[in-house]
Amino acid sequence: MPGPTFETRSGDGLLVEWPNELPAKHFLTIDHSLHGAEKDKPEARGVVHVHGAKAPPESDGYPEDWYAPGKSRTCYYPNQQEPALLWYHDHAMGINRLNIYAGMFGLFVIRNGIEDALDLPRGHFEVPLVICDRLLRQDGHLDYPVSEDPERPWVPEVFGDVMVVNGKAFPFLEVEARPYRFRVLNASNGRFLHLNLSNDQEFHQIGTDQGLLAAPVPLERSLMAPGERTDLVIDFSGGAGQRMTLRSDYFDLMQFRVRPTAGSLAGRLPASLRPVPKTPETAAVKTRPLSITENKSMRGESMTMLLNGTAWHEPVTENPALDSTEIWSFINTTDDSHPIHLHLVRFQILDRRRFEPFLYTSTGEIRYTDPPIPPPPEEAGWKDTVRADPGMVTRIIVKFEGYAGRYVWHCHILEHEDNEMMRPYDVVGPEPTVGLREPRHQH
Ligand code: C2O
Ligand code: CU
Ligand code: CU
Repeated sequence: MPGPTFETRSGDGLLVEWPNELPAKHFLTIDHSLHGAEKDKPEARGVVHVHGAKAPPESDGYPEDWYAPGKSRTCYYPNQQEPALLWYHDHAMGINRLNIYAGMFGLFVIRNGIEDALDLPRGHFEVPLVICDRLLRQDGHLDYPVSEDPERPWVPEVFGDVMVVNGKAFPFLEVEARPYRFRVLNASNGRFLHLNLSNDQEFHQIGTDQGLLAAPVPLERSLMAPGERTDLVIDFSGGAGQRMTLRSDYFDLMQFRVRPTAGSLAGRLPASLRPVPKTPETAAVKTRPLSITENKSMRGESMTMLLNGTAWHEPVTENPALDSTEIWSFINTTDDSHPIHLHLVRFQILDRRRFEPFLYTSTGEIRYTDPPIPPPPEEAGWKDTVRADPGMVTRIIVKFEGYAGRYVWHCHILEHEDNEMMRPYDVVGPEPTVGLREPRHQH
């Protein structure tokens, strides 16, 4: 892991056949008490979702559309969207935390001529960094923790002690003394990353989940929740002959070894990258308050975490009309940050605002205690995953473009997602007036 990278262009549609060639038996422990992971299901099932893709519903990798070893599925990715670093990963109901942990994911890059013309560092100087944490046994095999209850082995969070970059533990990269572009994915099941350089050197963030920001943002530290991507430019031109480490908290992720000779100056950052027009709040036809809640057992163990107080199998409650704009307001009453991801769409963060969770939990009333905080510049671009921080109401504005049909939204902490922190949603198209509706998209 990671799997092979797709290099694609905006507007160039792509058909991918995803055969399931897994062995029949899963090598990690399945919790059969989880919804969708019952004993009657084949163990090594899978279904592929391209995270961040504007794909028709039948190609989006709906969690219940998994298929067994020996079977195959062909998906269509129209790529009618702007350049971005997407990623594909398994989405099989009730076991996707295990499948992704086992390595079923990779990158999916979309480019276009406009981004090419910016002359950002490219070729050897553009490096993808897929970062995740893992637990390893003494013999080097992957270890995935289980609870003390053999009937319910699910655990609410997994934190590895080995950081892995592009499938290697603590690798190094020899670099020239010049700027490099790093396309970073946090592919961890549950770990948030706080990226920084050991020499405290500043770098620039130039993009978010769904492509370039309006302008580069200077940073010394970059926060990434599971599922999020970031686009960083690190300039090594002042560091000829030196070594420095990319870190996250107290973990070393990888080392950069800068060649002793001065490198070329190509790939200097432009002052502006692309227009990112702000979606005005007045464009929204509806605001949906959506709670994030957690029930704990008497012993304080996490039992269920829910979105909007509803479990997966309950009827759809979010049903935006195709091409309409809505505000989704995530009311997080829990003690944790939950990265919330919507399939199909890109969105913008409006603000985060502190409120009184206890009052809300007991009466349903939202009482704010502080003014709203707009997103910092590094989050003020197009996103598909957003941190809903604890004790905050996080608001996003989103236009439901592309296709009508059934999609999902969920927390991207994979242990949460597998245990009810995921909901179906419907993008509702116009009703056909007479007879059968023409296919919306013809190819
Ligand atoms: Cu990374 Cu449902 O997605
Ligand atoms: Cu997704
Ligand atoms: Cu969560």
